[in-house]
Amino acid sequence: MRAVDAGFIAAMLGLTAEQVGKYNSDGFLVVEDYADRSAVEALKDRANELLENFDPDSISIFSTKNQSALTDQYFFDSASKVSFFFEEKAFDQDGKLVQPKELSINKIGHALHDLDPVFRAFARSDRVKAILRSLGYRRPIPVQSMYICKQPNIGGEVVPHQDSTFLHTEPPSCIGLWWAVEDANRTNGCLWGLPGVHKKGCERQFIRKGDKVEYDTAQKKDWDLSQFVPLEVKAGTMVLLHGANVHYSAENTSPESRHAFSIHVVESAGTTWSPQNWLQRPEDFPFEPLYDDTAPAA
Ligand code: FE2
Repeated sequence: MRAVDAGFIAAMLGLTAEQVGKYNSDGFLVVEDYADRSAVEALKDRANELLENFDPDSISIFSTKNQSALTDQYFFDSASKVSFFFEEKAFDQDGKLVQPKELSINKIGHALHDLDPVFRAFARSDRVKAILRSLGYRRPIPVQSMYICKQPNIGGEVVPHQDSTFLHTEPPSCIGLWWAVEDANRTNGCLWGLPGVHKKGCERQFIRKGDKVEYDTAQKKDWDLSQFVPLEVKAGTMVLLHGANVHYSAENTSPESRHAFSIHVVESAGTTWSPQNWLQRPEDFPFEPLYDDTAPAA
């Protein structure tokens, strides 16, 4: 029997028509058993290695609650680096770390998918490409990546938001691919999503003005949290999030961490990347598409 090419098999592992329908209807999709234990352990090992080697000499705190006030050059520069962001509750009143640095980091971002070999291979796999193809992406670009630690006891909440607020194209095209590296449940701060809300579009944009960032408009609604559904998933599960889906995760007050890896992808064929997005790449480090189906066949 003829050997089947591994790349061919991976290319066949896009979403089924049923999964695409569910994603279009809900604005999110849970794909169980995307990655096996060894694949997620490899991500975790690599993240731990990065954390061990990190020298916490420059400090930046990540919060979606009060992003504008906390943003600094370190945050802007992270668009093209592997940078480290602390949990808000990582410090005591004197500004000293309460716990070891490995247990104090909220996330690592935002160019792991380009710069780190382990995360790059995971983010740019044939299966990721197949999934995006099945959703109609023609020249998708992963614009940012994050390894999220959601530390035990101090893992900060992420308030309800839409990813297209932060990563805007015209027309909007953002999609989040989120992988549970550890089991995520209500106790340790799993994702919660609001089914169907993406059909109403993105409410506002987070725009850069010089060395500052701000929302272009006030939030129009207070989201009714009772309408959200918990996405409790096992390690290895992938969750797709439409850019206009509203989602949040609660604070992790449990003794268990909730590690996850995510990338955000936008379409670059027939769209424009907003020059007002906080995330901009320098000329010598341009965005790199996953594939280009717009190129004429050779
Ligand atoms: Fe998000």
